Amino acid sequence: MPKKAKALPIYVINGPNLNLLGTREPEIYGTATLAEIGKLAAARAKTHGLSVVFQQSNHEGVLVDWIQECRTKGCGLILNAGALTHTSVALLDACRALTHPIIELHLSNPYAREPFRQRSFIAKAATGVICGLGANGYVLAVDAIAALLKE
Ligand code: DQA
Repeated sequence: MPKKAKALPIYVINGPNLNLLGTREPEIYGTATLAEIGKLAAARAKTHGLSVVFQQSNHEGVLVDWIQECRTKGCGLILNAGALTHTSVALLDACRALTHPIIELHLSNPYAREPFRQRSFIAKAATGVICGLGANGYVLAVDAIAALLKE
């Protein structure tokens, strides 16, 4: 029997300041570190027979490069673009060039916060949005991508 080809990984991309999770405004973002969240996402992906590429950058261009990379090297995208969610046409355009499922993710619920957080460029290209559920949102986003890939 020929061996089944391994599925491409889900790209989980995190934007500015998310490297500080655990100590950054824990009353809003929780106490889990990004490394801990990465482990949760990887473990959940494994239950679906999938894997993750889990990355963070404070630089918009680097995020664009990774989203572009996901076009050929990934099967789906989970994107917490941090503050760039609310400002970046470049990230929107990169997401629009992707044909895979995209989940926009936020630990907090931006719609219950300052008005400037209530606009999302990413949402215009996202298949779905998960927000306000803390670190568990990443686990749910992995489930969502796995379900979308089965459709
Ligand atoms: C965030 C929400 C954004 O408004 C904020 O700028 C972040 C984190 C979240 O995960 O809740 O950096 O994306």
